[in-house]
Amino acid sequence: MSQAERAAALQRIRDAVGEAGIVDDEASRDAYLIDERRLYQGAAALIVRPASTEEVSEVMRICAEAGLQVVPQGGNTGYCGGATPDDADRQVLLCLGRMNGVRAIDPIGFTMTVDAGLVLARAQAAAEEHGLLFPLSMGSEGSCQVGGVLSTNAGGLAVLRYGTARELVLGLEVVLPDGEVIDGLTGLRKDNTGYDLKSLFCGAEGTLGIITAAVLKLFPMPRSRQTAFVAVESADAACRLLGEARRISTDAVTSFEYLTRASLELVLHHIEGTADPFDQPYEHYVLLELSSGQDEEALRAVIERVLMDGMEAGSVVDGVIAESGQQRSKLWRLREAIPEAEKHNGGAVKHDVSVTIDRIPEYLERAPARVDAVTNCLYSTYGHIGDGNLHYNLLPPSGAEPEAFRQKHGAAISRAVHDLAVEMGGSFSAEHGVGKLKRGALEDYKSAPALAAMRAIKQALDPDGRMNPGKVL
Ligand code: MLT
Ligand code: ZN
Repeated sequence: MSQAERAAALQRIRDAVGEAGIVDDEASRDAYLIDERRLYQGAAALIVRPASTEEVSEVMRICAEAGLQVVPQGGNTGYCGGATPDDADRQVLLCLGRMNGVRAIDPIGFTMTVDAGLVLARAQAAAEEHGLLFPLSMGSEGSCQVGGVLSTNAGGLAVLRYGTARELVLGLEVVLPDGEVIDGLTGLRKDNTGYDLKSLFCGAEGTLGIITAAVLKLFPMPRSRQTAFVAVESADAACRLLGEARRISTDAVTSFEYLTRASLELVLHHIEGTADPFDQPYEHYVLLELSSGQDEEALRAVIERVLMDGMEAGSVVDGVIAESGQQRSKLWRLREAIPEAEKHNGGAVKHDVSVTIDRIPEYLERAPARVDAVTNCLYSTYGHIGDGNLHYNLLPPSGAEPEAFRQKHGAAISRAVHDLAVEMGGSFSAEHGVGKLKRGALEDYKSAPALAAMRAIKQALDPDGRMNPGKVL
């Protein structure tokens, strides 16, 4: 395609979305072109922000005719560079942020239909206005968008109880690479009619089409919530406590987050207003949250019983139960601020592995030898062990320059961390997706038949390879 033809196509896109739908000034462009972790400096021929599904469809149609590639972007909070374009001539960055409405809430069927660009926290708030809960929750919820969390099948802090993003979707509206629209915005709970297309687009990271709207599952708002920060004797004790908490509470456990002393210390050191809830250090901690339809007093009795039984069994060594909403927030801050604290510390070689829950202690026991064989590191280990998901992050030893450390050892450390997870039947990417960063890992660890099936699907839906090229596959 000639330069002039490309310029004409870009002009047609400008005309289709109007001035308000284009990001032109240099200063604003960087917010879209650089990824959350600042791993990639992106480039695009045009940054476009359509205001409706019709506009997305029109942009896609023009791009198809002109052979332009399209990179979809939500809140740009992903960890794997999946929403960063990298071609200043041929790529159009399509951001969903202007499509941010709540289209409908069904308080009888417990569903909510929203635009893809709606910020997750606003989706939660919209459900809450109707006394309902949209349970997907994560550190980035103030800026990540529904379309992005669905496209990456994000996890977060309540997966144990409610599932990952994919499990919270009933229907999707998707614009295909040629501009055709699949209107799958159904609230049906049962629709057993062949391939599950919505599941295919969730987790596809925009490589098959663009999610423009979704019907999401809502749940009754719990009447009570109880939160405890617990010191446990070991990672094994943490896993045993999880099982006991689920049994005793008859599955009222909403979150079960694990963190090591090293991660807590990073937070205490770098994050203002945080304090150790205990008067002595422990090696392993769990943040446990129960929620239910019982009243506060009854649920309080349940969490106390979980802790007491844990103490008698020797798995719990200390614990505090939040006495107020404010104290609950403070306890959560100790867990949620770990990524921010790592950043203040100069960053980390970050991982997002999973194994089955019963093998978490074994993973934690075996991994240090693998990592130490690469180089000397500091460890920040935490994660959603209620989902078998660990963020096994490695920091440079004191005195080492973080960027040089990452350049020199990052790849080998990641290989060691991922190898062990996969050897143990686990995954190299539990909740952060593949994007650009873990594309090589997908190639290395997915079986040949699984990769061939993925490539066949990609080829069928996007034969010219124009959708988010260089991501996932
Ligand atoms: C978290 O659980 O805090 C994030 O998914 C992982 C991270 O930022 O390391
Ligand atoms: Zn996480």
